[in-house]
Amino acid sequence: MSRRIADVARYGEVEVRRWRPEDGDELRAVILSSDAHLRPRMAWLDLWAPADCDPAATIIGWNADWDDGGDLHAGIFERGTIAGAVGLHRRLGPTGLEVGYWLGAHATGRGLATIASGLATDLAFVDSTIDHVRIAHDVTNTASEGVPRRLGYALVGEVACQRTLGPADTGTDRIWEVTRAAWPGYASLA
Ligand SMILES: CC(C)(COP(=O)(O)OP(=O)(O)OC[C@H]1O[C@@H](n2cnc3c(N)ncnc32)[C@H](O)[C@@H]1OP(=O)(O)O)[C@@H](O)C(=O)NCCC(=O)NCCS
Repeated sequence: MSRRIADVARYGEVEVRRWRPEDGDELRAVILSSDAHLRPRMAWLDLWAPADCDPAATIIGWNADWDDGGDLHAGIFERGTIAGAVGLHRRLGPTGLEVGYWLGAHATGRGLATIASGLATDLAFVDSTIDHVRIAHDVTNTASEGVPRRLGYALVGEVACQRTLGPADTGTDRIWEVTRAAWPGYASLA
């Protein structure tokens, strides 16, 4: 399948774009230095720890997946420096995408996850076949809940989640959604 969704968007000094292999070492450094911040919610941290971990190869695999119609794995950059990551995940059937995100410990509290998720929502709707975008977070993850709330997503409800849990997650996710018709574009919200 050819890629239909644009893979770069900017707002002010924040850029969301798909990863490049040369981002790999900086990405790994951000992840490893943010271990205590990320570990409670992220189940994949240990994949980045081994000395023979190959971040560039991981990114090449992500991009191949995207080019093949799979998930978008993108970086959140502030003035060219990695702040975190945002993804568009194909977990909702052919007409929906789910936004996921994390920030490095150095990058929280300044709106970067909200801005990046707004930009990712813009990117999702570039694809004319996408009519809704969702955000899911553990019911106890109040920092994560702030993102869809600030963006004006509507609360759908709570479900038992299917994903691999972080140690602090309960297994019940809160689901938020915005439809194409309801989304004004990130710049209109900022
Ligand atoms: C979830 C996570 C990304 C949220 O980070 P965050 O810093 O709270 O979110 P934002 O970057 O959107 O910043 C929001 C804060 O910046 C403030 N802010 C400043 N400028 C802002 C702007 N332009 N737009 C939005 N918020 C802004 C908000 O008021 C808010 O402040 P508060 O924390 O005092 O309420 C972060 O906690 C994280 O990485 N957690 C670990 C991984 C994780 O849980 N990922 C999500 C799994 S579902």
